[in-house]
Amino acid sequence: MTLDLSRFQAKGIETCFHGRHVGAQIYAGLDGRNWRYADYVARGGYTALRKILGLDGGPGMTPEQVIAEVKASALRGRGGAGFPTGLKWSFMPRNFPGAKYLVCNSDEGEPGTCKDRDILAYNPHIVIEGMAIAAYAMGIRTGYNYIHGEIFEIYERFEQALDEARAAGMLGERIGGSEFSFQLHAFHGFGAYICGEETALLESLEGKKGQPRFKPPFPASFGLYGKPTTINNTETFAAVPWIINHGGQAYLECGKPNNGGTKIFSVVGDVNQPGNFEIPLGTPFAKLLELAGGVKGGALKAVIPGGSSAPVLPAKVMMDLTMDYDAIAKAGSMLGSGAVIVMNDTRCMVKSLLRLSYFYQHESCGQCTPCREGTGWLWRVIHRIEHGQGRPDDLALLDSVAANIKGRTICALGDAAAMPVEGMLKHFRDEFAHHVEHKTCAVPQYV
Ligand SMILES: Cc1cc2nc3c(=O)[nH]c(=O)nc-3n(C[C@H](O)[C@H](O)[C@H](O)COP(=O)(O)O)c2cc1C
Ligand code: SF4
Repeated sequence: MTLDLSRFQAKGIETCFHGRHVGAQIYAGLDGRNWRYADYVARGGYTALRKILGLDGGPGMTPEQVIAEVKASALRGRGGAGFPTGLKWSFMPRNFPGAKYLVCNSDEGEPGTCKDRDILAYNPHIVIEGMAIAAYAMGIRTGYNYIHGEIFEIYERFEQALDEARAAGMLGERIGGSEFSFQLHAFHGFGAYICGEETALLESLEGKKGQPRFKPPFPASFGLYGKPTTINNTETFAAVPWIINHGGQAYLECGKPNNGGTKIFSVVGDVNQPGNFEIPLGTPFAKLLELAGGVKGGALKAVIPGGSSAPVLPAKVMMDLTMDYDAIAKAGSMLGSGAVIVMNDTRCMVKSLLRLSYFYQHESCGQCTPCREGTGWLWRVIHRIEHGQGRPDDLALLDSVAANIKGRTICALGDAAAMPVEGMLKHFRDEFAHHVEHKTCAVPQYV
């Protein structure tokens, strides 16, 4: 039976062909049509894989040399937590006797984020090559790419790219005639946000309900089917061929210390030209805003700099920030998935938070009490504040519920639900207090 998933398909415009990238590596040279194997090879694709395997007469690279290069690059995971990729790869037990797995996280459910979708649609071979290099470095023979269920056409495109890579001998048994074999498969989820959490993803990949596992044990020792597994984000794998071709040091120098390379930001919300922008880490936020055509419909009020889980930051903080993991963390938020949600001064923060909190209470998998009960509790309190029924102690109640979710749950979805509440109350408490006291909004257009 053919499964008709057409009603789940995204119908957005292509978001990465505007040419306003700075030093692009992953999106460089894409036009929407040149996604095929031959196009990728014409752009220099698969040279990194050929280089490590010594297919073009070079000495090749040992797995240890590949990992050392990725470590030197200061590549940090692009899925949200920013964990150093080379270090993660070094956790994989090299001499484990049984099966080991490599998994690409293309679930991309974080509100505002749409960068991985464009990588897979318009440059799928860069992910295949990155995964093959990772597999070689960690001695893995089997991999899966877990693709978000609501972008089914991307899943189909990736399947086509896999067929092409297999036909060209860049995937499968004895790649390019070398001793290295790697089988890669595509898998599609069904659109649950929680399946982006790595252990929920593994459960889902095993055919079970997508609910996070307790950690430890971590996937490096107990992952897919209980075997050692390394999971990285789509953009993380896509960064690897450039690192191998140009060297870890060159990649590091594209960004700033501890924040190597370029990063793709999905700039959404109140901007004139939303889209995906690939820029060096450490680029000023003001420059990114300019690339996105500036603020639309009013003055800049606030920005959520790293996907909806990241605490909001006011305009004056953002305008002095550079876009990198360390600078944003120092300012009290996080770079997360790289979705930059821009809000102008006609936005009511209570209403915005109501929408965010609805999302988290809806997406909680329900396994742990603080998240299951707390996310709904947050939403109900914000709902009554927004609708003129706020109580005098509601802001303190929000503080308390958020604080009691954080750090008390199996996975980080609990924190992801609490942090937007904390950020809004930290920077825009007056707006919430106004709603409670006056039963109406402080933003003129909503009064
Ligand atoms: C609720 C939740 C949702 C997540 N969603 C994603 C996602 O859609 N894509 C992703 O790559 N990582 C997501 N993550 C992070 C993954 O658990 C994991 O850290 C990441 O895939 C590791 O890859 P990286 O090291 O390359 O960033 C999510 C985490 C949580 C807690
Ligand atoms: S924190 Fe929430 S989403 Fe994560 S396991 Fe617990 S109930 Fe599920």
